[in-house]
Amino acid sequence: MPRLYLFTTLTGDEIANRDVVAQSGQCNRGAVRAGIPPPRPPPGNFERRGWKRWNEDPAGDWNVYWASVTTTRNMFNPDSGFRLGDHQLVNHFPNHYELTRKDLMYKNVKRYRKDLRKAGYDDARLNFVPTTFILPQDYTLFLEEHKKGRVGTWIFKPHGRAQGRGIFLVNKLSQIKRLGPKGGGSGERNPLDMYVICEYIDRPLLVGGRKFDLRVYVVVASYRPLIAYIARAGFARFCNVKYSSEAGELRNSEMHLTNVAVQKGGDQYNASHGNKWAMADVFQYLAAVRGSAAAWKLREDMDFLVVHSLKAVQSVMISDKHCFEMYGYDIMIDDDLKPWLLEANASPSLSTTTPEDKALKMRVINDTLQVVSPPNWSSVDSRRAKAFPEKVGCLELLYNETEELQAVRSSPAPRRGAGFQRPGTVGTPRRNPSMRV
Ligand SMILES: Nc1ncnc2c1ncn2[C@@H]1O[C@H](COP(=O)(O)OP(=O)(O)O)[C@@H](O)[C@H]1O
Ligand SMILES: [Mg+2]
Repeated sequence: MPRLYLFTTLTGDEIANRDVVAQSGQCNRGAVRAGIPPPRPPPGNFERRGWKRWNEDPAGDWNVYWASVTTTRNMFNPDSGFRLGDHQLVNHFPNHYELTRKDLMYKNVKRYRKDLRKAGYDDARLNFVPTTFILPQDYTLFLEEHKKGRVGTWIFKPHGRAQGRGIFLVNKLSQIKRLGPKGGGSGERNPLDMYVICEYIDRPLLVGGRKFDLRVYVVVASYRPLIAYIARAGFARFCNVKYSSEAGELRNSEMHLTNVAVQKGGDQYNASHGNKWAMADVFQYLAAVRGSAAAWKLREDMDFLVVHSLKAVQSVMISDKHCFEMYGYDIMIDDDLKPWLLEANASPSLSTTTPEDKALKMRVINDTLQVVSPPNWSSVDSRRAKAFPEKVGCLELLYNETEELQAVRSSPAPRRGAGFQRPGTVGTPRRNPSMRV
């Protein structure tokens, strides 16, 4: 695993801001080590917990490794000869891409829904990913669908990239044909072979005329049994310019792509708030303009989406007991207040734009570490046997399959407040019957 040694080429400051760290004292040994830099957690988060940085051999005695996805994949590659000890945790599952690659996520969710239908269960809310075609194999199907005219605009996204890079919108057959396979047996690879084409949500919910999407943090402590938390602290990312569905504006990425990386370059980007709203403010706003029942329902629908997206990959995920994951979901809400899952990121950006942003990310990482690495765990097996509390800071237990299996008959009614209860202060029913299928 030569990549694990890349950190030695970084400066001291860079190392201080990167990766990893480990627990000291709690797990009797410890520390953490880094490889290719994953997104940087705000510095100091680990140290504040009394953990020590591990700066030596990655084959050594660290406890928690905040690694990049590449490093994790290398670790689990049988050729690496690397074996995780009983006292070691890594922040990715070896085949995390089943959920975090756009094409595979769609495939898995589609298959899952089909399987549920066969088993006699259906629910319109399971339609939570926009219709997607995976290139090159679905190109003809896509042309047929476009000709039917149900969808006007399509968004083309490369499945291996991030931060809005390589994305464009198309609404004319002529443009689409120009992009398609050239034929002629030239043997040349079409760059679009690495793309997915998704139905464009062209009636997004707007605030002040601007499009936004939500960054929702989801923590999976285990896939089998499924134990998942959702962060009630998150944020909305707004576009710089007011939204229009006019065809002439399709190239305007500042209007259509909410990625901070896209918006940051624009003249109208507001550095003081970073074009962000706290999740709680979004829900309060919605409660005010659409009513608390509608806002509450949206929250329940988002929880439903998260649980079923995880269940969709549960059977294919390698649920290694050393692994956990902190996903960054991109969820868009349409004008009917339906949430759509655009993608799940394995390495959500941890860079920060404002003091509030920094505090939020510190909090989410801190609570994630508290869930996956509570004090005094001595081995990954004993860690699993520990109870998973309903609430850990901003994280709420969304699904605990262990308990579901035990409590399957005693399904209490969802806890609903008389009116809308502020997100972030209230628990979502963990045993909401709709979560169970
Ligand atoms: N189907 C869609 N409908 C409307 N907007 C979308 C859709 N898919 C993506 N977007 C917009 O494009 C942005 C980037 O898409 P995303 O799938 O998150 O790719 P990336 O990995 O580049 O972030 C999203 O945050 C959202 O603003
Ligand atoms: Mg994204």
